[in-house]
Parts: sequence; C-alpha cells; structure tokens
Amino acid sequence: MSHVVDVRSFPIIDRCCYLNHAAISPWPGVVVDAVEGFVADNRENGPLNYARWLKIEGQARNRAGQLLGASPGDVSFLKNTSDGLNLIANGLDWQPGDEVVIPAGEFPSNRLPWLALAERGVETREISLDPKTPEASLVEALGPRTRLASVSSVGYSSGLRLDLEPLGRACRANGTLLCVDAIQHLGSLEMDVGRLPVDFVVAGCHKWLLCPEGLALFWSSPEARERIMRFPRGWRMYPDPFTFNREDATPPADGRRFEPGTLNMMGLHAFNAAAKLLLDQGMSRVESAILTRIDRLRQGLARIPGVHVADPPAGRNSGILCFRPAAEDPGGEQIGNLYGALGENRVITARRGRGIRLSPHFYTPVDQIDLALSVIEDQVVAV
Ligand SMILES: Cc1ncc(COP(=O)(O)O)c(C=O)c1O
Repeated sequence: MSHVVDVRSFPIIDRCCYLNHAAISPWPGVVVDAVEGFVADNRENGPLNYARWLKIEGQARNRAGQLLGASPGDVSFLKNTSDGLNLIANGLDWQPGDEVVIPAGEFPSNRLPWLALAERGVETREISLDPKTPEASLVEALGPRTRLASVSSVGYSSGLRLDLEPLGRACRANGTLLCVDAIQHLGSLEMDVGRLPVDFVVAGCHKWLLCPEGLALFWSSPEARERIMRFPRGWRMYPDPFTFNREDATPPADGRRFEPGTLNMMGLHAFNAAAKLLLDQGMSRVESAILTRIDRLRQGLARIPGVHVADPPAGRNSGILCFRPAAEDPGGEQIGNLYGALGENRVITARRGRGIRLSPHFYTPVDQIDLALSVIEDQVVAV
C-alpha cells in the first residue's frame, strides 16, 4: 500500500487548477479504469460475470463502512443525498405539531423535504447559527416537539464544520433524532459515526468521494432504521433476492432494507475504486492535506488587500473556503469579473452567494494554489 499520491491518477492537474471539488470532482484514473473495465465486461460478456459484480458490491459496502467508521451492515446504497433525506422525511411517523430544526441557509436538499412536511402539520424551523457556537444555536432551538434536527456537517457555502458530538448528545437528551447531510464532509474529512451520537448520515459520492453522479451512501443506526415506518419494498433488499415466491416479506434488519431494486452497479464499481484510493491514502492524511491547502489559501487571501475571507472560526475549517471583494458590490459585477478572470486563467472555482468558493482536494498541487492566489491578487488590484 502506498501513501504517495500518484499524480497520474489525476490528469486534470495538467489542464487546470481545479478548486471545485465541493461541486463535482473529476474522476481519478483508477475510477475511470474501473468503469471502463465494467463497460468492457458488459460488452463482451453481458451479465455472465454477475457473481463478480456482487463481490464488487460487497467490497464497496465494506469500504463505505470503513470511510464512515461504521459497520457495513448499516450502509444502504441510494441514488443521491436528496433520496436519503426524503426517505427519512417520508418514513418517520410524524404527528401534527411536531417540529424539525435545521440551520438557516442549508442546501435545498436538506430543506425542501422538511418544508414539504407542512402538509402533515410539521413545522420546520430554520435557525441562524452563530459561527462561533453553531451547535449552541441549534441546541437552544430544540423544544419538546422537536422530533428531528437535520444539519450539513460542513456548510456548502460557509465551509463551517459542525461538532456533531455535543449536538448529538443534546439531541439524544431531548429525544430528537439527528440527521447529517455529510456530502461536503465524507471523502474530505475523517468521519467516525460509530462514535458519534447521530442517527442518520447521507452523502452523495460525486464530490469529495471522487465518483460519477448517481450514487449516495446512507448510514442509519439499527434503532433509527426501525423508526422509518414507510419505505419502498422490492426484491433486492433480501439476502436471498432470487427467491421470487417469498411468503414471508418481513423486511431485512440491515441497511439493505432501503435498497428495493437493482443497484447502480456501474456507480458501485467506480465507488469501490475511489474508496480504495482514499483508504490507501488514509483519511487522516487526506484531511490534513486538504486543511493544509485551505490554510495556504486563507493566509494568501489575507495578504491581498481588498479581499474579505469568510473564514470559519479556528478548528471549524473544512475543504471549503469562500471569499469576496471587500468593497461594496451590489450588482455582483466585481465578483463576476473575478470569477471570469479565474476561469480564463484555468482556475476552476464556483460562485456561491456573494462570493467565490474554493475547494481543493488532497492531490491539488500546492503551486496551483499559489497560482490561484496570484490570479486573484492581480484581478483584485485591477478592479
Ligand atoms: C450540502 C449539500 N447537500 C446536498 C447536495 C446535493 O444533493 P444530491 O446528492 O441530492 O444532488 C449538495 C450539493 O450539490 C450539497 O452541497
């Protein structure tokens, strides 16, 4: 096992400085190889090697468990993050008057499924977070009718990383389930759900997990799983899926309960390869490489006059850092010019809110970070 990043696995570094992993990541070479191998197998053999595909599925489930710090039996493969959040929203046994608590400014996937519960008499409260004590803001909002709190463990535009331990403990004490949208976390920062007082974790794989779109990991504790009363049923959730004339249709107890039908087998081949790459690298190394790059960006931006960095308080950093021109920019013209100039210089970023979001991955060459900083400096001076 090698801990040295093979840069050939990321040919995108020869084309551009890619600082947009919080949107969609390029597929590493090993992922492309896995997908191409699956394509060739299908072309030449159709499904004759189905037994081998099932082995890949099992390996992928084990690796998903390792990335989450969880038992593979508690993992379900779903389509996307929204799929998982809707599974919870549609499945719990809500009563009129129940409440859901979410942070204000969440990505729509972690907002709309809860707001839709209004038709069942459930109120969703969107809580503004104090960036210094965001968990306390949420804990204060928990009330006797709060059945569930749902948070992004890393904010998609703030980059703010929540401390799930105290939040989870307070939720438990209040009888509130805690659901975590970890799409901006898993694959970039370490995760150990086995040690955390959380109930559900869901994360799409096309960002930090370096996979094609169309696959998400859903983790549920055995107890929380039992609280999902309504969920889709189908043949493939059972350990013996080819028993088509099943008499006893009691759903299985493990995470496969939420996998009613045929899985995204191509996505699983890709995920299996991506997860191996991340695990070989070691998630603690991945995390520290990302935080080193974020730190370099933050320090570099702090030296550029005319730039305001939306910097989460110490210890709350993630793979996401946002900044904007410090001057008033009501029409967004300056930010538009800056974003355009970065693109022209092949520095790929995202516009989020009134700013620009930077999201390097562990393999991003440090000299490309410096290149991005010099383009920003030149452009900010120019406006
Ligand atoms: C916090 C967060 N949740 C969810 C999503 C996407 O959800 P889905 O996997 O359903 O497309 C994103 C970004 O696209 C996100 O940043």
